[in-house]
Formats: sequence, structure tokens, C-alpha cells
Amino acid sequence: MKVGIVGGGQLARMMLEEASRLGIDTVVLAESPEDGAAKVCAEVLIGHPADRSAMASLASACDVITLDHELVDLEIIGDLIAAGHPVWPAPSALIYAVDKAEMRTTLSEAGLPMPRFEIVPPGSSVDLDELGQRWGWPLVLKAARGGYDGKGVFIVGDADEAASTLGELHAQGVTGLFEERVEIEAELAALVVRRPNGEIKAWPVVETAQVAGVCREVLVPGDLSAAIAEKAEAIALRVADEVAVVGVMAVELFATADGLVVNELAMRPHNSGHWTQDGASTSQFENHLRAVLDLPLGSTEMSARFVASVNVFGGSEAIALEEGLLGALDVPEAKVHLYGKASREGRKLGHVNVAGNDGSMVRRAAWKAATALGTPMPDEIRGVEL
Ligand SMILES: Nc1ncnc2c1ncn2[C@@H]1O[C@H](COP(=O)(O)OP(=O)(O)OP(=O)(O)O)[C@@H](O)[C@H]1O
Ligand SMILES: [Mg+2]
Repeated sequence: MKVGIVGGGQLARMMLEEASRLGIDTVVLAESPEDGAAKVCAEVLIGHPADRSAMASLASACDVITLDHELVDLEIIGDLIAAGHPVWPAPSALIYAVDKAEMRTTLSEAGLPMPRFEIVPPGSSVDLDELGQRWGWPLVLKAARGGYDGKGVFIVGDADEAASTLGELHAQGVTGLFEERVEIEAELAALVVRRPNGEIKAWPVVETAQVAGVCREVLVPGDLSAAIAEKAEAIALRVADEVAVVGVMAVELFATADGLVVNELAMRPHNSGHWTQDGASTSQFENHLRAVLDLPLGSTEMSARFVASVNVFGGSEAIALEEGLLGALDVPEAKVHLYGKASREGRKLGHVNVAGNDGSMVRRAAWKAATALGTPMPDEIRGVEL
């Protein structure tokens, strides 16, 4: 049993930890030997997922392929599957995580709740004044493919700004996806894992906090009502069956005055699920491996009443690892996860999980450790007294 992972980032790195514990062999296709997962994996191939021969080498070195990120070539993956090398998730599911326009079209046809949207491929146009009048400025314009961590998401204030940003996307051959800008009351993520035979499990729904499009904090259960969490979970289970995903899938949702709407899908372990490493019976990384290997799934029950997970970012002044760890490990409840990256301002370097039976304690402890590691405390994160 050997799993090949496309991409050498932190998600691959954390899958390797679980693979090691379960005695599963691994091989990573990384772009550089300095990638987080390449530094800790015994077998590393260096190459790009868009390179056919690199992907073929990975396939011949393992029994099943899975992904650390979605910036992959679906045609190459389809050809590998046709040649008899299993890849999970399959392109027929993956397309909805790779391409936001495809996701909007298919899920809205399936009756799932969405913000209003308009897809504008290169070579076509739309009456922007009319669109802005109909939905109200500003609008959200997204690159249908290639975006991550808020890169590829633009808030456009008027028709001129919309036209020039759309022009830039089209010049790169990228489809523009306009969305109405919804009034967000809370951001949520519903995480599920599904096996090839359709067996499926859901972890408790979480509340996430994004600053400038980037996830900073995850609270379980956060301020979500049981009714909202139940609806979000039902949506995620429906999406998972609809697209027949195999492995972990995260559904990002917005709670609005009119109910829940789907934002986007990720088909791999997701930042909103890092808390499961220290707050659930089975982590998302372990269950992802179990699913792609078609092994029985582990329990997704919480192991404490509350969990907080705070991302660690580089600040304006890099803190030496030893100094940062000294402070963070001094917080007794904190579980520190670092990705082996050099500190740079704004770069995601790791996360801290804290689980316990006091919701404000776990949040405070997680921020205490994250700030000790140099994470600047954003003004938008309120109510945490360190
Ligand atoms: N239609 C919308 N209305 C209002 N805010 C939005 C809308 N779409 C996105 N946002 C905001 O922008 C953030 C990033 O959007 P999205 O998740 O689509 O981008 P991404 O770059 O793919 O994100 P990720 O960091 O998850 O990879 C969202 O978390 C939300 O805060
Ligand atoms: Mg997102």
C-alpha cells in the first residue's frame, strides 16, 4: 500500500505524519526539495503536476495517487486513470474544486443555495452597468480557476473597475465569475470524507474567520446554532454524493439573513479541518488516506467540547524559531504545528490547536501561542484578551 501525493505543501506533510503512524508508504511529487513535505518524506520526486512524464513517474511509484492542492491538469489525471492508475478524487469530482464556474453551474442546477452569479469566459462580455444595477455595487469578481488564499478574488466597485479586472483575467485566458456580494453574517465550513463505495462521514461544522480573504481562525462549534450547523452538514453530504468525491471535501458556506449559501469546495484536507488533529477522534489527514485507500473510515466525533485553531503567519519582523517555540510551548494546552517554512511577512507558517471544555479558554490559549510564534493579531479578530 503506497500513496503518491501530488504537491509537497503542508497538507501533504501532515498526511505523511498519519501515513507514518499507520505504516503506509508514501512518495511525494514536489516542485522543490525545499517544499515542506519533501523535507520529511523518504521518497521524493521533483517535478510539476502539469508535466506528463513527472505524473507518470509518480504513478509508477505508487498504488494510488491523491493531491495536496488542486492546481493540477485534469486531462493528465484522466489519462492516468484510463491507463489503470487510480487517482482520488477523480477528475469528474475534482473539476468542481478546480473550476468555480463549473461548480456554480452544476450545484445551482442541483438546487443548492448559491449567491447570484454570471460566468464570462474569454471572448465574451456582459453588460456590466446592468449587472451592477441589478445586484448593487460592489460586485465580487473571481478567477474561475487558479485562485487560492483570496488571490483571484476581487471586489470591484463600478463598471470601469469591473471591466479592467475582467480584461486582465481574459488576457490570461481565465474565465471571470461575477457574484453578488452577499452580506455575510458568519463563514462556516462543513467537512466530510467519502469512500469509493459511498460510505461517508461528517465532522462537526465549524465557524471560520477570514481576513483579506485568508483564513485566520477556526472555532468549533463557534457561535453557530445547532440548526444552522445541521443545514450546513446536510448541504455538504448532498454535494459529496452529487459529485461522488472520494477523500476529504470541505464545503465553505456563508450564513446570510436569507439562509446559507455555498461559497466554494475543496477536495483535499482543508485549513478549516486542521483542528481535527487535536480535537477529533480521527483527523482529516488520516481519514483522507483511509478513503483514498478504500479502508474503513474513523470516527469524526469531537474529543472535547470546544476547539480553537489559529493560523500562524509571519510578521514584519521574523522571530527565530527557537524563541517563538519557547513562548508557544509555554502555553500548556497548545498543540503547535509548524510546516518547516522560513518566516516571511504574511506567509502561513503553521497553526496552533487547543481543545478543551471552556470555549473562551481554548481561543485565548491558541492566540497566545500563535502570537508568541510571531503571528500579528488582526484588528478584525475581536474579543480575545491575551
Ligand atoms: N460572493 C461573495 N460575497 C461576499 N464575500 C465573498 C464572496 N465570495 C468570496 N467572499 C469573501 O472572500 C473570501 C475568499 O473567497 P474564496 O473562498 O472564493 O476564494 P479563494 O481564494 O478560493 O479562497 P481560499 O482561501 O479558501 O482558497 C471568502 O472567504 C469571503 O470572505
Ligand atoms: Mg475560500
